[in-house]
Amino acid sequence: MDVREQAAAAPVPAEDLAEAGLRLEIDGPVATITLDRPDKRNAMTFAMWRTLARIGDALPGSVRVVVVRGAGKAFSAGIDLSMFSEGGGPTADPQEGDRFIAELQAGYTWLRRPEIVSIAAVHGYAIGAGFQLALACDLRVLADDAWYCMKEPALGLVPDLTGTKPLVDIVGVNRAIDICLTARRVAAPEAAALGLAERLVPAAGLDDAVADLVAALLQVDADAAVATQRLLREAPGNTLEQQCAAERREQLARLRALRGG
Ligand code: CAA
Repeated sequence: MDVREQAAAAPVPAEDLAEAGLRLEIDGPVATITLDRPDKRNAMTFAMWRTLARIGDALPGSVRVVVVRGAGKAFSAGIDLSMFSEGGGPTADPQEGDRFIAELQAGYTWLRRPEIVSIAAVHGYAIGAGFQLALACDLRVLADDAWYCMKEPALGLVPDLTGTKPLVDIVGVNRAIDICLTARRVAAPEAAALGLAERLVPAAGLDDAVADLVAALLQVDADAAVATQRLLREAPGNTLEQQCAAERREQLARLRALRGG
């Protein structure tokens, strides 16, 4: 049994999901995670981030696509602001603090695994931690009335839920400075023009657009999809020579597998 198969033997209990404001549905190769605190616009808590990490650990190896969506009027209004007054954040000890935030980041990092394609279905708005969750996904399907906002600097904080790297990778340092340091709302058409949406769709058609995308992703060979994503993910850090070598390695492995050994 590999690590993921073992983890799949102990899925996250439904009561833990509900307590964390999450829903998880697994239908064959597709897992759907719903941020499910609609009365609070899916504001996110430490428990929600930790439970997202547990979902990542427990995901069955048969899942190929993970859809992340928000219940109600919006994708997510970001961190639950009541947590600032309630405390419970990192302590002043630097090592403990580092570990604390790393645990929360783990709720986001697994969405980049090459074994899955993660899709954020964004409607309404995605603010702060919600915007970063959309950035953590491989693909963003954005409703045309949605908007993003990186609110953290306006609150005296930095975006620390893995969002700065994908934001810079997609829009470049200068536009990322504009978006983060003004904490402005980026409306869907601008977001799409900047590359922050792989699909821009009418709000009423969001679910259908996500379903179409999922169906298209499931059409290609599962092992080729994983190998290709692995290649694409290492491309930015490779020289052309290294990338050519990686392509040869992956292709020879594919050909061996297709020949049956
Ligand atoms: N935390 C806690 N509760 C929130 C919330 C949040 N982030 N966002 C909305 N809510 C609650 C509201 O308090 C309200 O609750 P009640 O009905 O009990 O009063 C309910 O959700 C509905 O809110 P609104 O009536 O304001 O809904 P709206 O759709 O008109 O407006 C909004 C939505 C524009 C998102 C507005 O609520 C808002 O600006 N919220 C705050 C957004 C924010 O600053 N988020 C933090 C970003 S920073 C971050 O995420 C990362 C970090 O680490 C700091």
